[in-house]
Amino acid sequence: MTNFTDDQKVYVTPRGTQMHGDSLELLGALDDETVDLIVTSPPFALQRKKAYGNENQEAYVDWLAQFGQAAKRVLKPTGSLVIDLGNAYRQGSPTRSLYPYRVLLKFVDELEYHLAEEFFWYNPAKLPSPLEWVNKRRIRVKDAVNTVWWFSKTEWPQADVNQVLLPYSKNMQRLLKDPEKYYKATLRPSEHSISKHFGTNNGGAIPSNLLQIPNTDSSSAYLKKCRALGIKSHPARFPANLPKFFIEFLTNPGDLVVDIFSGSNTTGMVAERLGRRWYSFELSRDYAALSIMRFLPGLAPQDAGKLYDEAKLRTVSLPEEGRSLLATMAKTLEEDADKAVAAAEEALAIAVEDHLEAKGRRKKAKDASREVLIVGPTDLVEIADAALARAEEDLAARSATMRAAKRDLSQAKKRSELGRALLEDFDAYYDTTKFLVEVDELAASVE
Ligand SMILES: C[S@@+](CC[C@H](N)C(=O)[O-])C[C@H]1O[C@@H](n2cnc3c(N)ncnc32)[C@H](O)[C@@H]1O
Repeated sequence: MTNFTDDQKVYVTPRGTQMHGDSLELLGALDDETVDLIVTSPPFALQRKKAYGNENQEAYVDWLAQFGQAAKRVLKPTGSLVIDLGNAYRQGSPTRSLYPYRVLLKFVDELEYHLAEEFFWYNPAKLPSPLEWVNKRRIRVKDAVNTVWWFSKTEWPQADVNQVLLPYSKNMQRLLKDPEKYYKATLRPSEHSISKHFGTNNGGAIPSNLLQIPNTDSSSAYLKKCRALGIKSHPARFPANLPKFFIEFLTNPGDLVVDIFSGSNTTGMVAERLGRRWYSFELSRDYAALSIMRFLPGLAPQDAGKLYDEAKLRTVSLPEEGRSLLATMAKTLEEDADKAVAAAEEALAIAVEDHLEAKGRRKKAKDASREVLIVGPTDLVEIADAALARAEEDLAARSATMRAAKRDLSQAKKRSELGRALLEDFDAYYDTTKFLVEVDELAASVE
């Protein structure tokens, strides 16, 4: 149960809702102990004011702690709070701010969270900054790591490493194929053989707490649509693989995931795809509405733009509203393609006929020229040769026309197939709904 107002709901999907408002207030509308995971990236305490707003560094820790407090009430006893924090330099100084560590101490000492484990997100694609210390004076190296605190409400949060195993290295794969060859059973003084232990295939390697995830997305549907519409995208998105890791690690399908500083709603999109329920909270109605672009695969940018405009004013329902726009587009594509197919078929029929006629003329001209060669006078031979050459040219032209008509036909057919495929892709995007129906049925049968 939640107490959200309709005005706060920007769009709803089969598994989640994008909300607009202050997270402190929105968290207050959630029932006690109902959330499995909050994964979020707050506005950082950076020096320069960014478009999405920053608190000054001193006040920052207290400001963030209010959210930590409100989050704790709604987390289940098995729940986790994962906070991604960028590092910062102190104002005008080549020395570091301690704010990520102050956040850590505040959350553990005062809010009584547990630090389940500290993570570091290494973004190899990070640009050097601040320019003054790194590029100009060259007295500091590139800062490419964010701290990611995994807090838990109790000492025993829900977690399963088996859900986030990494592919084994090539060496490990070889070892697993033939453990005896690689590890000659080394008997320790305890008579414990390590070869057997290392030769067990656990389905993958256990990841470390250094998460290497490049933040280089430039081709997502969200960005493509923003670019096509000339709209500025959210300036501080994290890569989908960051929330993905924690959602898979710390929750099960059907669990509830919340992002309290959702920006472009990377978290909601990933949760939707992974079959988790989700709420995303964002202060800016505009950012919240723009994030609908993540849920409209296949829609033409101008249609997606219509839903973005609607989401600024009222709650948009997905997938229904997206599908109806897509269906109209697919229908138009199909109708246009049908017309093009009919025209191409007609052109093809004419070209085939012309081609046949030209072929006949060529044969006649050839026969005539051969006959004249055998019996006729030279000037007649020349006339017949010229007729043959013309017929050959004619034939080549008609053949080219026929090939072009065939190409047009196959392209028109492809366009109509595209319309159908777009609709199928769109439905496939939301396909894990089936799973939710199963969860509901299961819940009903338990009640
Ligand atoms: C660093 S961005 C999050 C980006 C997000 N992880 C993504 O991938 O797009 C932080 C967001 O928090 C929002 N925000 C700031 N204060 C907030 C508040 N009190 N309640 C809800 N959202 C807030 C900002 O508008 C901004 O969009």
